[in-house]
Amino acid sequence: MFGPHLNQDMRGIRVRLLSSRRRHPAAKALLLVFGLFMMGALYSVVAPPVQVSADDTVTQQVEEGRALFAVGCASCHGLNGEGQTSGTIQGPPLAGVGAAAVDFQVSTGRMPMARPGEQAAAKPNRYSDEEIAALAAYVATLGPGPAIPEPAEYTPANISAEDLARGGELFRTNCSACHNFEGAGGALPNGKYAPPLVGLDDKRLYLAMLTGPQQMPVFSDEVLTPEDKRAIIGYLNALHEQPAAGGLALGGLGPVSEGLWAWIVGLGGLVFFAMWIAAKGAKAK
Ligand code: HEC
Ligand code: HEC
Repeated sequence: MFGPHLNQDMRGIRVRLLSSRRRHPAAKALLLVFGLFMMGALYSVVAPPVQVSADDTVTQQVEEGRALFAVGCASCHGLNGEGQTSGTIQGPPLAGVGAAAVDFQVSTGRMPMARPGEQAAAKPNRYSDEEIAALAAYVATLGPGPAIPEPAEYTPANISAEDLARGGELFRTNCSACHNFEGAGGALPNGKYAPPLVGLDDKRLYLAMLTGPQQMPVFSDEVLTPEDKRAIIGYLNALHEQPAAGGLALGGLGPVSEGLWAWIVGLGGLVFFAMWIAAKGAKAK
């Protein structure tokens, strides 16, 4: 019966209480302080730790790279990668070669070079992935150069038949002069050689094009776009994955040797066939 009245009274009291508190002179200032405090707390939770730890990891990696460089590379490339052009052990300056060149040279075992003066040959690599990353991070601080590419850049995904054909064409115009038809490798002047390109992973192929080791020209992204490079990689993969047609690889040395085989086998067969017909004809008479 008096329930609603009581409710109304209570509401009246509550409203009066709230409005009197809101009217308190310190309320506005307190609210402002509280707001600022919350923002500060939120910011300190969200932003700084991320930044600080990223910076820390990078500087730590560069320092680690610098230390590794001093031990394994400085004897030829100078303590600060400035290069060394006199004396018996020499190495080019490394400012501007980029992280990509270090990744390629060290992961293929070319660097550290065993003996100066020869072509730096690929050999088993002595560094862990983290150490290579550290060396690369350090050399990248010496001057701007190509960064290590992401998998999406060098993996030829969903490659079409046209891409493969284009890759083959690009390979024949840009690479086969040194690496031979089908990438079998070949000799170059002055005792140098272009290694065979069989069984190399996508990243190694991409890095070689991007950085142009030793006698090899650099194929920058202006010369061969990343897409072109992927087409070439796709072509090489397809070429070396598929078993040679006819079961005999003929050395994969291109039209000349393959023509020779066609000449010997094909013409030989024809001659044999002609002799057989002649013999048969003679018997029939
Ligand atoms: C015995 C000497 C020697 C040592 C040790 C050595 N290098 Fe080299 N490095 C060379 C020479 C010489 C070349 C040039 C090869 C050429 O172009 O024929 C070279 C080339 C390079 C290149 C390619 C530069 C470019 O223009 O693309 C990189 C990157 C490199 N070295 C990094 C390293 C790193 C990293 C180490 C240590 C892990 C190292 N080198 C240790 C002698 C050395
Ligand atoms: C002027 C000759 C020349 C041309 C053109 C050339 N290369 Fe090379 N390439 C070389 C030489 C020399 C080496 C070896 C360098 C070394 O040992 O450091 C090499 C190394 C490589 C390697 C590294 C092989 C390994 O075992 O690590 C790859 C991959 C490669 N070339 C791919 C290509 C592709 C793809 C093209 C075409 C876009 C090309 N090259 C064009 C001369 C050439």
